[in-house]
Amino acid sequence: PPLSEILNLHDFEAIAKDVMHEKSWAYYSSAADDEITNRENHAAFHRIWFRPRILRNVNKVDWSTTILGQKSKMPLYITATALGKLGHPDGELNLTRAAAKHGIIQMIPTLASCSFDEIMDAAEPGQVQFFQLYVNKDREITKRIVQHAEKRGIKGLFITVDAPQLGRREKDMRQKFEAEDPSEVSKAGADGVDRSQGAARAISSFIDPGLDWSDLKWFKSITKMPLILKGVQCWEDALEAYDSGMAGVVLSNHGGRQLDFARSGIEVLVEVVTNLKEKRGLSFPNEKFQLFVDGGVRRATDVIKAVALGATAVGVGRPFLYAYSSYGPEGMDKALQILHDEFEMNMRLIGARNIKEIVPEMVDASNIHLH
Ligand code: FNR
Repeated sequence: PPLSEILNLHDFEAIAKDVMHEKSWAYYSSAADDEITNRENHAAFHRIWFRPRILRNVNKVDWSTTILGQKSKMPLYITATALGKLGHPDGELNLTRAAAKHGIIQMIPTLASCSFDEIMDAAEPGQVQFFQLYVNKDREITKRIVQHAEKRGIKGLFITVDAPQLGRREKDMRQKFEAEDPSEVSKAGADGVDRSQGAARAISSFIDPGLDWSDLKWFKSITKMPLILKGVQCWEDALEAYDSGMAGVVLSNHGGRQLDFARSGIEVLVEVVTNLKEKRGLSFPNEKFQLFVDGGVRRATDVIKAVALGATAVGVGRPFLYAYSSYGPEGMDKALQILHDEFEMNMRLIGARNIKEIVPEMVDASNIHLH
């Protein structure tokens, strides 16, 4: 169908399922085990309701913000998703270009199909980018990757901590992943990979399950980039991240691709905000320790709920993959235009003229269980 018939981010998923290669669809859409967490991610937003304010002159509304001190036109960023070329020959560059054009930030994955430098070279001068790190068993390799990222101007290092072993994504495993040209799959490279169990397993064997809290000091010693842990799932770990000098955490279950029955990021946000206030006197959003959420974000209302509850911004993954896999760069334009229009309308409807006016009182999160 023509792009003019696409009305929301969900629509891209249905199209992508039809038009993508079966293997690529399997890799992008799959999640762990019975995919309960994957479904819960979006469903969890349905438990939060608005308490809008009226009569506030909402002629002009502005949803721009800053993320880790960097300007963003929206309180959302493009999160890291591996193997961008499975959906489109330009792979991650579709995301890089759209991010530049629409004033948002892209998080570049370790396992991008395009090389890191190719992505950095495709960026506009001054374009802000983040980097997602999978920590290699060989720390010298990790150090080289991190310091290269910093040298090229990356403004935030997101260390993935929810994948000491890759989740079983059965839809993907059934596809017997074989890249015709391995360099097409990932230039990050992992030698001696077993390609018999799906794309995810094939590319991830280098990831170190031995990573622990004591490694964070080392990270701080090798880079000045803000460090963020991606994949925190309870307040206890958010507190430890804060105490370890991290710049923030992403409350995430990896799009439901790791531990099935992990809770959604939006659910975890509530207990993190409550406990860090109680135990460290922090209030959110907070410049020094920023909270992010990803998983199941499909509407501007989802983003607004997360911001109201204390998140600085949210990550969006699959919808953008589906948008460019189905329609190329125009798909990305459309996806971001949809979000733009949704922000404008919903900011007016809740009575918030800017991000600061999206306050906790504007949502009823009493259906979220507090730990
Ligand atoms: C991911 N995600 C991910 N995360 C990460 O830290 N490193 C990675 O390489 C990948 N790769 C990846 C591939 C694909 C195809 C998907 C769908 C996801 C997880 C990602 O950053 C994010 O947590 C989720 O995608 C958010 O959920 P939604 O927006 O896809 O529902």
